[in-house]
Amino acid sequence: MAVEKGDINAAGNPVPDLKNEILRLKKEKGAVIMAHYYQPAEIQDIADYIGDSLALAQIAAKLQNAEIIVLCGVHFMGETAKVLCPGKKVLIPDLNAGCSLADSCPVDSFASFVAAHPGHTVISYVNTSIGVKALTDVLVTSGNARKIVETFPKDAKLIFGPDRNLGNYINSVTGRNMVLWNGACHVHEEFSAEKIAELKKEHPEAKLLVHPECKRPLQIMADVVGSTAVLLKYAIESDDKEFIVATESGILHQMQKSCPDKTFIPAPPNDSTCGCNDCRYMKLNTMEKLYECLRTEQPEIIIDAEIAEKARKPIERMLELS
Ligand code: 13P
Repeated sequence: MAVEKGDINAAGNPVPDLKNEILRLKKEKGAVIMAHYYQPAEIQDIADYIGDSLALAQIAAKLQNAEIIVLCGVHFMGETAKVLCPGKKVLIPDLNAGCSLADSCPVDSFASFVAAHPGHTVISYVNTSIGVKALTDVLVTSGNARKIVETFPKDAKLIFGPDRNLGNYINSVTGRNMVLWNGACHVHEEFSAEKIAELKKEHPEAKLLVHPECKRPLQIMADVVGSTAVLLKYAIESDDKEFIVATESGILHQMQKSCPDKTFIPAPPNDSTCGCNDCRYMKLNTMEKLYECLRTEQPEIIIDAEIAEKARKPIERMLELS
């Protein structure tokens, strides 16, 4: 249950008006709040910038006047912002907000995988640890992966990690044959093609919007495959009125807010009782933690300078090619 102004917290103190306190602290400390589309609705609503992984990296790279960045997303997004803004304090509301994809690709194992494929260019998804980024030639997001992979010759030897579903999708649309790391996202893996097909029978006019981290059968069924920003843009610009959305549930907030006259139906996962449409890491961030994070200026993203320097090159290369 959401904690509200006037309630008493666990320490026996009155709960502050979180929204106003966050806005006050933000101004007082010269902080900027950035939020990914998968964040809880109230965090999206208070953020200065909302975006997909690509937009958040692009905005961080251009931020001039902020002393502090509070990255409401997951850990790797905070790391990317820190690499791009080494002179700023980068905070995230909960340090435990990790990523199942990044976890599926440990640095040592990835280093062995790279070593086993000599002569290959290493392309990694941004959903990786800073250590994996440091082993990478160029990073991509779901918003620019196709464009960046297409900058390489058709016969180039390429490794792609860690998301096998995004990798498969990019191979299919670019005609490349990248060697894929076998990782996946716990949210996107769970959507059920069979249940979506049943839902489509009930809503024959609904367009199916699919994130490329979903499995291949969903990509094939989709009307649109794209990053969260691409799916949102499509929903806004389309004349269609009904959409089935196969990605993390947080994006539905912006879709509904931008298109109040349209209907957005969350795609069903295999187990309808599991709550799998919610990323367990993204939803660790709450307004209470955001307030505490601004108040205490903790937890802060700290990165070893040498690794940050190695990771900067593939991030900057991605931004140049985007
Ligand atoms: P985008 O932000 O590129 O849509 O990717 C979503 C995601 O999986 C973030 O973890």
